[in-house]
Amino acid sequence: MLTLAIIKPDAVAARHTGKIIAHLEAEGFQIRDAQMVRLTKSRAESFYEVHRERPFFRPLVTFMTSGPALALALERDDAVTHLRKVIGATDPAQADAGTIRRLYAQSKERNAIHASDSPENAAREVAFFFPTR
Ligand code: CMP
Repeated sequence: MLTLAIIKPDAVAARHTGKIIAHLEAEGFQIRDAQMVRLTKSRAESFYEVHRERPFFRPLVTFMTSGPALALALERDDAVTHLRKVIGATDPAQADAGTIRRLYAQSKERNAIHASDSPENAAREVAFFFPTR
């Protein structure tokens, strides 16, 4: 089973990409696809469509378009649930010790990594970046 991760612009700029990939591989994920992306405003709006009415939507789009990010299609048993566990809570202050967000995120918005939150969204999000999968 595949899920989508995005190493966000804050973590790429801080040069945490390698450590985050090592963490994901140590958790048993195989990288099936990877692409450095610079999201445009319209691509970011479309990716985060479900959050369009939320107060954090505009700043989220601005942040996600602020620099390069790394999209990863990751495979593992129970990939969606396991990746959510490994990244930790949205707010790094609430994230368990040892999770990627606790280790590398700065705030609820600049939170280092995205992961699909359901199998349905994983299928949509993998196809968003890797349409041939
Ligand atoms: P992500 O997993 O990429 O999905 C939606 C993103 O919105 C989330 O990570 C956060 O980076 C961002 N966000 C910013 N503020 C909030 C908030 N108050 N609640 C939830 N998500 C937020």
